[in-house]
Amino acid sequence: MRTQLTFTPPAEIETEVLAILAVDTQTAKGADAKPEPTLLTANEALKAAAASALSSGEFKAGAHETLLLHAPAGLKAKRLLIVGLGKQNKVVVHGVRTAAGTAVRFVKPRGIRELVLALPESDLLAAGPSVRAAIEGAFVGDFDPDTYRSDRKDQSIQTFSLNVPEDRDKTVVQTAFDEGVIVGESQNFTRALVNEPGNKLTPTIMGQRAAQMAQEVGLKWTIFSTEKLKDLKMGAFWSVAQGSEEPPSLIVLRYEPEGVTEGPVLGLVGKGITFDSGGISLKPGDNMEKMKYDMAGGAAMIGAMRAIALLKPKVRVICVVCAAENMPDGKAQKPGDVQTAMPLSADKPGKTIEIINTDAEGRLVLADGLTYARQLGATHLIDAATLTGACVVALGYVNAGAFSNDDASYVKFHAGLSTSGEKFWRLPLGEEYAEQIKSDIGDIKNTGGRWGGAITAAEFLKVFVEETPWIHLDIAGVAWVEDSKPYIAKGPSGAAVRSILEWVRSY
Ligand code: BES
Ligand code: MN
Ligand code: ZN
Repeated sequence: MRTQLTFTPPAEIETEVLAILAVDTQTAKGADAKPEPTLLTANEALKAAAASALSSGEFKAGAHETLLLHAPAGLKAKRLLIVGLGKQNKVVVHGVRTAAGTAVRFVKPRGIRELVLALPESDLLAAGPSVRAAIEGAFVGDFDPDTYRSDRKDQSIQTFSLNVPEDRDKTVVQTAFDEGVIVGESQNFTRALVNEPGNKLTPTIMGQRAAQMAQEVGLKWTIFSTEKLKDLKMGAFWSVAQGSEEPPSLIVLRYEPEGVTEGPVLGLVGKGITFDSGGISLKPGDNMEKMKYDMAGGAAMIGAMRAIALLKPKVRVICVVCAAENMPDGKAQKPGDVQTAMPLSADKPGKTIEIINTDAEGRLVLADGLTYARQLGATHLIDAATLTGACVVALGYVNAGAFSNDDASYVKFHAGLSTSGEKFWRLPLGEEYAEQIKSDIGDIKNTGGRWGGAITAAEFLKVFVEETPWIHLDIAGVAWVEDSKPYIAKGPSGAAVRSILEWVRSY
């Protein structure tokens, strides 16, 4: 999808589809408070073109509602597409993101290749943030997961233009536009990885894809495998990898901006299980195919690193992704086995882990990934993982779970959510939960029983981050869109990429 910025007066734009936003300005409540759909524009020609359609009552300007008019009078565009944002007093910037996605997904299956979205003069929405959100939303909407369909029609929009009122600050708008392209493409990069099936994206191939991207955007990278895991004594990571014919991949990406030699080093750690069968504690067959997305946390980190490399914040970032398959091979680890995790330094012993359930593998690979990021110098950590079904039980498909041992780090993360438009809900940690993962034979066990499963998984990770400020994101419920929405296809969501990026930029 090509994207461009235009400042032409909307009525003068010659295009297949001109899209414009509308809100419901009705403020009264009650049964007879009829919706008042109102275009978000001061442009008289646009208002006149839409007037009779808006007064017809068939369009209420609800969120993601669409109305298409052909040959709109007084406009040079062939079609006018009106996209609702919902109640005026509830409009937020994220609404522009999903409205842009809705417009793209409206146009795509109709064989139309060109779309112009006209942003309002309205003071309801600040120029920069709404420009960035609109571009991101257009990229998100343009993605479809049917990569391997043999009759896959190339339905992608060829040109998406964002039309911005002439009087807006051009540098603000251009910067926001450029950022939107980078973030939107990075999120789709993540989604493309997550979409790949386990046979096409093995840990090795995941490493190659990360390396290729790193090369393109100018990140430093190293991809290790079995030997390095042994060298580093990554007993927890290896205990998962040992059950598969596919070798593991330890993916390390570094962003080192010129002239920055002091201050924090941010460590981004991701779970990269390219397929999770459960191992010897085999999962039931129903929905097992979905477990190809168990590398979504790792893919989110790789996508965030792409955006970081291109946006160039002034802070050092290290990314560690632990990629492996969780399989029930003859060499696979067994419940009851005791593993020794990576030691932070040679003079310290690694912590011992009693394996209760081989399906609780994400925390095992992350344990060593977090330790390694600390050994490489990370002063602040964030991890993302499709870690627990319990998190989905707690928060559904709407909010992802977030945990932190450090309020200051979490405040920064939380502040970025109004920009990213993503939903995370902080869940607690605590000594009483840590009790649930004490082992009789070793230091800890890898499951804490049925209750509070997302929390005990986070407590397990906390054992390895120790005092380092850390945020843990459990994205099991949000990394895959279960039912397509007007603005996003069913399939990989690219969740957490934008929020991780905002957290990094807050340093
Ligand atoms: N990858 C799963 C978690 C998951 C579940 C992700 C549903 C996405 C959707 C993880 O490795 C897992 O199997 N967790 C177990 C842990 C249990 C054995 C303690 C779970 O949640 O059931
Ligand atoms: Mn599992
Ligand atoms: Zn898993």
